[in-house]
This record gives sequence, structure tokens and C-alpha cells, in this order.
Amino acid sequence: MICSMAPDEAIDNLFALQDERIIKAVIKKKKKKKSATESRMESSKKRKGAKRRRHTASNENPKPERVNENKEEQNPKASKRRKSQGPVSNSSSFLDKMKAKLSGGHFRMLNEKLYTCTGEEALEYFNDDPTLFDTYHAGYQEQMSHWPELPVNIIIKWLKDHSPSLVVADFGCGDARLAKSVKNKVFSFDLISNDPSVISCDMANTPLCSSSVDVAVFCLSLMGTNFPSYLNEAHRILKPRGWLLIAEVKSRFDSNTGGADPKKFTKAVCDLGFTSVAKDFSNKMFILFYFKKKEEQISKKKDIDWPELKPCLYKRR
Ligand SMILES: C[S@@+](CC[C@H](N)C(=O)[O-])C[C@H]1O[C@@H](n2cnc3c(N)ncnc32)[C@H](O)[C@@H]1O
Repeated sequence: MICSMAPDEAIDNLFALQDERIIKAVIKKKKKKKSATESRMESSKKRKGAKRRRHTASNENPKPERVNENKEEQNPKASKRRKSQGPVSNSSSFLDKMKAKLSGGHFRMLNEKLYTCTGEEALEYFNDDPTLFDTYHAGYQEQMSHWPELPVNIIIKWLKDHSPSLVVADFGCGDARLAKSVKNKVFSFDLISNDPSVISCDMANTPLCSSSVDVAVFCLSLMGTNFPSYLNEAHRILKPRGWLLIAEVKSRFDSNTGGADPKKFTKAVCDLGFTSVAKDFSNKMFILFYFKKKEEQISKKKDIDWPELKPCLYKRR
């Protein structure tokens, strides 16, 4: 599958260039604004001085003139503007804000990349520059901080309600929160490993033996365009009657906005060799699917009609 984006290196260079240009342009604009305000205040001061001199010369018995030292009172418009802009000299907080905006943009670009390429391409991309994985996760955590409930916590609760002896595989584990929160043996997989407990791989090819785990978890991780191959891998490593838990962003299954039909998705997973046990649509942000691997292996797998899962594009904040 060819990724819809420009070649990776070009994107990186473009992004770095854009970052620098945007910061420079905004600083220049801000300086220009500041010096225009200062020169307006300067000329207003000069005008007032000249007026005062004229007044003193023409008045035989001049009253003492009140000289206003308060520049803001001299130029109420500038004062109002400055109040609404905040202190012009506070450039470090301004730069921090700019950096936050740019890293938000960088996160959205990486997120879109993950949804529009294959797992293999994503693995190569992050292996070329592992710092991009940290940028992605910083942005992802920021987005999650606005969600009222996290799907990973629902899955953690589900596991705590079941036997701790169940062996779990967490596909696309992120910061491995699930493994850190339960007593179960958890194999955590992701593209990059920043933690010794995380196995770095494309989850279409995990190093686990066939029929070796009791629960396979996909928490917001069906990202690649080849997502059916991840589910195929989960089917391979699950024991018969093993659980498959999938949490996905709700909008990806909203057929009114171009999302997949959840029934079609469920049917495709069942055709792969699972039984649908439950679905949970109660959460505002995500939906949960609970499947069990069929006891009987399907001898000849038929062609499965997988629905397309549209990318989840996060809002600018
Ligand atoms: C949206 S994050 C969710 C992380 C975690 N499951 C959670 O709920 O917090 C999706 C994760 O899946 C990983 N991922 C996506 N495609 C992958 C692939 N082909 N192989 C391994 N990990 C993948 C991403 O790197 C990312 O860490």
C-alpha cells in the first residue's frame, strides 16, 4: 500500500523549515507591532510638547500645566491594546505557546501518517527517527487528557474482574499502562520500545507462538491500512475460546460521517473465526467490541469483506 503522503524525508524537512519560518515570521510581526506602537506614542508625546510650548508662549499668565507622566493615559488606545495582548516583553511564554502549537501540528501529522500507511511502513518510519514516536505520544497524551474516560481503563477493569492467570497480548500498547496496572502476564507490543517490557515489532508479526494467549487487546490501535492482518495475528496467537477485546474511536464507526458500519465490521471479525459476545456503545468517545475465538478452527478461510476504517483525525486544541 502506498502512503498518501509525500516522501518521509521531504515531510520532515518541510516541517522543520515551516516551524522555523512560522516562528520567525510571528516574532517579526510582533516586533513590528511593538515598534509601531512605540513610534505612535513618541510622536504623540512630541505633539503634546509642542502644544505645551505654544500654549506657554501665548499665555501671559500661564496656569501651571499638568504633565501626564503616565504614558497609558496619554494613549488610551495603546493601553487598551497592551492590556489585551499581555506584556510584550514576555516572549518566552509566547514562544512556549508557539512551540506547543507546532508540536500539536506535528502530532496530528504523525497521527495521520499512522492511519494512512501500513504497519510495516510505520515501523520503518519510526525506526528511522525514534524521537517521532515520543512526539506522537506526547500529543496523544495531550488529546487523551480531554477525554472523560479512557478505554484502556475499561479494559483494565475488565481484566481485574477476570482471573489474573489469563495471559494477555496488548497490541499497540503505547506506554504499556495496561501491563503496569494488572497482575496478569502481559506481552506488550508497539512499534518502538521505550520500556524493557515492551516488545518492538509490527504487530502483524509478533514473536509469540500460536494458541499461546488468553486475551488479545487492541485499544485504539487498529491504525494501519492493513488492520485485518493485525486481527489475523491475534487469531493465530489466541487459544481456542480466547478473548479478543477491541476499543476504537466512535467516529470511525459512525456511518453518518463516512465511518464503517459496526455490523459489517463484526461480521468480518466473525468470518475470521470469532463469535461476537458483546458490544458497548455507551461511551461518548469510543466503542468496545468483545469477541471469543471459536473452538473449531475454520479449515478454509473465505475471502473476508472488511469495511474500511477511516482515520481518526484529532481536533486542533
Ligand atoms: C492511539 S495509540 C494507543 C496506545 C494504547 N493502546 C492506549 O490505549 O493508550 C496506538 C498505538 O498503536 C501503535 N501501533 C500502531 N500500529 C502499529 C503496528 N503496526 N505495530 C505495533 N504498534 C502499532 C502506535 O505506535 C501507538 O502507540
